[in-house]
Amino acid sequence: MDNTAQSDYWNGPAGQKWVRDADRLDAMLRSFAVAVAHVARPAPGERAVDIGCGAGALSLMLAGAGAQVTGVDISAPLVQLARQRADAQGIEAAFQLADASVWRPAEPVQLAVSRFGVMFFADPVAAFRNIRAGMAPGGRLAFACWQPLMVNDWALLPLMTGAEFLKEMPAPPPPGTPGPFAFGDKERVTGILSDSAWSAIRIAPWEGLMELPGGNAEETADFMMEIGPLARAMVDQGVDPAPVKAALVARIGEMTRGSRRTLLKAAAWIVEARA
Ligand SMILES: C[S@@+](CC[C@H](N)C(=O)[O-])C[C@H]1O[C@@H](n2cnc3c(N)ncnc32)[C@H](O)[C@@H]1O
Repeated sequence: MDNTAQSDYWNGPAGQKWVRDADRLDAMLRSFAVAVAHVARPAPGERAVDIGCGAGALSLMLAGAGAQVTGVDISAPLVQLARQRADAQGIEAAFQLADASVWRPAEPVQLAVSRFGVMFFADPVAAFRNIRAGMAPGGRLAFACWQPLMVNDWALLPLMTGAEFLKEMPAPPPPGTPGPFAFGDKERVTGILSDSAWSAIRIAPWEGLMELPGGNAEETADFMMEIGPLARAMVDQGVDPAPVKAALVARIGEMTRGSRRTLLKAAAWIVEARA
């Protein structure tokens, strides 16, 4: 299974952006960490692995609840930041730089969790089979993944607003291509988990408003050009940011009508299963 493309991506400029924006992203995505922790129900002393842990927000949340957490991530800069945050907060948690599709814990874990870190495997069935192999009997899986782009305004609205300045609209990736929306199809997620021998699969929607970072329209527009499908298309196509930013500021102004908060629809799946 070759995750080299994702490793290059998350160790390159994208990983640096996630490091730079870690605190703002954690604020934006906090509800999803809470939702995963709620279904994971970590008991003190339980061993847990956080797959694609990034800068470690979910790992630190579960460790704070008494679990023995190991965060695993393929991105060196994000693992480094996760370790720094654990030290700074005085929370005991381990972080490993590794490809979660082949990494195994030293001892079986009772819990495997993830916030948006499981949609990037080249071979998801093999990856989830490997994760299951590291579980204690009856171990629990709990993760959040995005529903399709079309129902996630936080990503769709910037892309549609910036579209006229792109040289071409990015083609939708073929179904199953690793990426943030690769688990949008709930039937596909069920198939991946049952093919990798997980049972008691439950998938519930999380649908609500998500507050985007930035204390005003300018800052929120900057964020929209930094992370998400518009940001990626702008980098790929070498697009001049100035007119895109002006269009985003205008669009945000129309939507927020004077409020400093930009709230956009977000939709995820909260997935549970048992080993
Ligand atoms: C969208 S970010 C989410 C990060 C973190 N879970 C959070 O919620 O802030 C996806 C993460 O998955 C990691 N990732 C992608 N493929 C991976 C793999 N094969 N093994 C481990 N981590 C991986 C990336 O490096 C990145 O940190």
